[in-house]
Amino acid sequence: MKGICEFLQSLQCESAMNERMKSNAPWHSDTNSNERCDRNVTHCADRAPRLHIPAMVKEVVHYLACYDKPSGIFVDLTVGTGGHAEAILEAAPRATLIGIDRDESSLEVASERLARFGNRVVLIHGDLRDVQRLLAWCGVEEVDGCLIDPGMSLWQVDQARGFSFRIPAELDMRYDRSQRLTARELVNTLSVEQLTHLFEMAGERRNRARNIAKAIAQARSQHSIETTTQLAAIIADAVKAKRHQRIHPATKPFMALRMAVNDEADALERGTKAALHVLRIGGRIVVLTYQSIEDRIVKRILQQHSQHISTRLPSPFPESREGEPPP
Ligand SMILES: C[S@@+](CC[C@H](N)C(=O)[O-])C[C@H]1O[C@@H](n2cnc3c(N)ncnc32)[C@H](O)[C@@H]1O
Repeated sequence: MKGICEFLQSLQCESAMNERMKSNAPWHSDTNSNERCDRNVTHCADRAPRLHIPAMVKEVVHYLACYDKPSGIFVDLTVGTGGHAEAILEAAPRATLIGIDRDESSLEVASERLARFGNRVVLIHGDLRDVQRLLAWCGVEEVDGCLIDPGMSLWQVDQARGFSFRIPAELDMRYDRSQRLTARELVNTLSVEQLTHLFEMAGERRNRARNIAKAIAQARSQHSIETTTQLAAIIADAVKAKRHQRIHPATKPFMALRMAVNDEADALERGTKAALHVLRIGGRIVVLTYQSIEDRIVKRILQQHSQHISTRLPSPFPESREGEPPP
């Protein structure tokens, strides 16, 4: 699908890095007061956004061998609000953690959360694809462990930034808000073919993907599509969704748009390759994947590098028995 790739490449912001050290920058609780919050949005209006609950924390710490490398250097290439980073710093008491993320506001939360670790933490606004350059900038060539936990965090979902069809907001979906391309632009300019392809890539069946794409084209011929609620309603209509379905019909289309806006498949591919280059001999990489598309990318890269790296699990994760505290 050459057309869509070229289109996306031409729209992707070229130099959105604007990386900067943020170690221990103070985080003020009104940091997000400029977030556009609809009155109906209970998530935003009634309480602060939820902190992301990091996935498989014990497994991540175990497979990165944090306990065996108490003075190691670890890089979290998608540090988000710092949940995994905190666990790594606790498990390796003299280790340094370098955390990278494209979302400046997530880094502000991480900065507050990790402040107690002082100069053991360096947070950088940047892209995981640039990990080599960003580490060199910190004077680091090799690391003991790399973690990639791609996608969006619960904290980002709770902001009115267009990630969730449940939260009324403009169709934005950018992690890095200095980037030009937004979901609004994709929804209003991609052809029916391109939208169909995008939705299929996210696991939508061809017919259904095409029906949704056609409904979007039909709706935008009247008025441009500006908000999450507008788009969710168009999708629900297109697939004639019944109310109270277990999975909202907009789930996959929204995921597809978010992945396209942020060029997530390419970032995961190039970021994983780059991470393998910064690992020292004996270093470990852990990549958490949630979608089959992500899973395929990572397995292919590890396979391609299998002459140089071991893809065997170093030692099994000790399962806790029922009723016992986890290891
Ligand atoms: C699932 S969250 C990570 C959560 C984190 N592990 C924690 O425990 O809080 C994924 C993060 O990846 C970031 N991200 C997405 N694409 C990125 C990219 N190309 N480079 C760097 N960070 C990226 C998002 O902004 C988000 O904060």
